[in-house]
Amino acid sequence: MHVVVTGSSGRLGRSVCAGLAASGHTVVGVDRAPARLDGVDERPIDLRDEPAAQELLDQLRPDAVVHLAGIAVPFSAPEREILVTNTTLAHTVLAAAARAGAGRVLAASSPTVIGYGAPGWRAASVPIDETHPAHPANAYALSKIVIEETVRMFSRTAATAFGFFRPCYVISPEEWAGAPTQQGHTIAERLADPALAAVSLFNYLDARDAAAFVDAWLSAPAEEVDGEGYFVGAGDALATRPVAELWREYAPALGEAADALEGTRPVFSIDKAAERLGWRPERDWRGELAAASAVPTESRAS
Ligand SMILES: NC(=O)c1ccc[n+]([C@@H]2O[C@H](COP(=O)([O-])OP(=O)(O)OC[C@H]3O[C@@H](n4cnc5c(N)ncnc54)[C@H](O)[C@@H]3O)[C@@H](O)[C@H]2O)c1
Repeated sequence: MHVVVTGSSGRLGRSVCAGLAASGHTVVGVDRAPARLDGVDERPIDLRDEPAAQELLDQLRPDAVVHLAGIAVPFSAPEREILVTNTTLAHTVLAAAARAGAGRVLAASSPTVIGYGAPGWRAASVPIDETHPAHPANAYALSKIVIEETVRMFSRTAATAFGFFRPCYVISPEEWAGAPTQQGHTIAERLADPALAAVSLFNYLDARDAAAFVDAWLSAPAEEVDGEGYFVGAGDALATRPVAELWREYAPALGEAADALEGTRPVFSIDKAAERLGWRPERDWRGELAAASAVPTESRAS
């Protein structure tokens, strides 16, 4: 497939481009800043320029568009800027993709749409799946709800199959080896202090597993993706102890239903993606940290 990936230079985009290229897709990366990605045709543009975005997609006429570009961290910019940027970029890219005749369009949403972290928030059910109510509590989460509704609007009105996914806290390959995560601390620190991972309900996702999800989404039957959303996360929790032991101290909003999360079970369910798309994550933090610590420091840097 000929696939355009926006946000191709980002934490998620780099791995998605690499994974799609490795599985035989022809990949064009679109980002403000190129990242010199192997095997990827990179087109640096600012997607706030709507005519430029339309011109590029008209010229490329891709089979599919994966829209990842945007402001990816809550409160990392003024609230209004996050809302305006994320919703405008998404509408620009989705509309341009439909007009250019792309057959499939996938947009990145976020698990934050359900509202965890807000004062008084309580999980309606655990494990949390796609039926959980959405109660966005900041501009980032609100922008993602608007993106999900934008996806549904195009799904209803365009011939293209539109869908979204909610990736859990993304960890790129270099972060397993000790590079700082998006919150500035390392994975080892996130594991040592459960309060750090509790903020996102101990969720995480290896960026390469996210790439495999995108690949599975692109080849799934249209009825499994059109207008649909999927949680995409690891098969375990980012915690050294079961969440059933941790929630009372670190994540009381989960409530007693979290007692069901025995062993390594994660808070977010990925059953829908497994059952309907045949996707399952292949990596977990124990394996990735062990592999990273087995690699000599000099080799990691090169
Ligand atoms: N990283 C996570 O844990 C996580 C979790 C849930 C959802 N998401 C979503 O996944 C997507 C990718 O996240 P990420 O972690 O890779 O983010 P990132 O910040 O690493 O990458 C985003 C990319 O978008 C590009 N971009 C931003 N504005 C642009 C513009 N106007 N024109 C062109 N390019 C622009 C940036 O240059 C950057 O390379 C985002 O939509 C984010 O909200 C990420």
